[in-house]
Amino acid sequence: MTKKPTGIELFAGCGGLSTGFLDAGLHVAAGFELDARAVDAYNYNHDYRGSRGFIADLNLASGAELLERAGIMRADFVIGGPPCQPFSIAGKRQGKRDIRADLIGHFIRIVDELKPSAFMLENVPNLASIDSGEFLDDVKAELRALGYKVDHRVVLAADYGVPQNRKRLVVLGVKGKRTVRFPDATHGTAERPYLSSAEAIDDLPDAGEFGETGIFNHEPTMHSDDMIERLSALEPGKRERGSYHDRLHPERPSYTLRAGSGNFSPLRPVHYKHHRVITVRESARLQGFSDDFLWPDRIPRLQQYRQVGNAVPPPMAEAFARCLAEQMGWTLDKAGLAGDPSTRPPAHIYTDDERKALRTARLRGASLGKVALSAG
Ligand SMILES: C[S@@+](CC[C@H](N)C(=O)[O-])C[C@H]1O[C@@H](n2cnc3c(N)ncnc32)[C@H](O)[C@@H]1O
Repeated sequence: MTKKPTGIELFAGCGGLSTGFLDAGLHVAAGFELDARAVDAYNYNHDYRGSRGFIADLNLASGAELLERAGIMRADFVIGGPPCQPFSIAGKRQGKRDIRADLIGHFIRIVDELKPSAFMLENVPNLASIDSGEFLDDVKAELRALGYKVDHRVVLAADYGVPQNRKRLVVLGVKGKRTVRFPDATHGTAERPYLSSAEAIDDLPDAGEFGETGIFNHEPTMHSDDMIERLSALEPGKRERGSYHDRLHPERPSYTLRAGSGNFSPLRPVHYKHHRVITVRESARLQGFSDDFLWPDRIPRLQQYRQVGNAVPPPMAEAFARCLAEQMGWTLDKAGLAGDPSTRPPAHIYTDDERKALRTARLRGASLGKVALSAG
């Protein structure tokens, strides 16, 4: 049996799943992802830990190609959160969705080609409702037919020490076992309560005028005077009726962070004490990322928010990695995969003056109606 396993992440985004697996001590050799800006963030945050990100269209790439690019002979585990395309007409087959026409189908295809000892597939809880549950049943049946013991659960990120009420559906598969186990909750009891928003972000200073605090990815979003007035009147834990902004409650975990789509910013929660939506750094904290995880300046801020909102919270991924390692008899190498983040090139390339000028340009665009005032 492989004691020190190596795996790959599919549909990797910026690599929240990879981060959690590396934090647990499992080596992820590579992350594959279509979006170059996500691969950029992946590499910035994982290359120094021995994981490389690659641009790949997983509709097309073969398992053998992925192994070759990752520079490994075999993947002991395959992990990933393929986007769910629940309303794709292309996916219909005799009135039912065709798994093969879906990105989840490509996850299954790659598992079939690589035959890892274990896999983890993460998705939205709604996956269980498509076609009255038949779609998920089909996914599990296909994976079982490949020789895996397969089960799924809807889990809450807060249960694993993430300051966020984020529910996700996870399908786990293991080879050569009679049962598949899911990690026990570590939080949510009287002795170890859920982490609150304030515990996660209260030590951060306000974001200043243009992000001049010296804290990475901590720039404020511009709001119109009218919006600031409305946000000032919004109580913690409540929703603003006109804009649908939710205001964080300092003593509770955050609302679910979202990714948004197209050119639209995800609707971000409002800070519980500042009258603005949360910054990328605050979002990252609420998603369980450490402050070593940085989005370089060259990645547009909308993309930074999107990558955070898309990610599997690293502490949740870490709990799953440890649980998989335990049942597979794998050795964890936490220290060996920690890396030294200070060896990276600087993430911030703009001076304060340049940052200020960019903000002014955005404001000017906004006053000309070119940029939505709350678009960040
Ligand atoms: C939900 S996100 C995954 C986030 C990741 N699990 C994490 O923890 O950070 C899904 C990703 O799939 C990517 N994607 C969509 N279509 C793809 C394709 N055909 N090939 C590769 N990646 C794709 C998207 O760009 C997106 O970043």
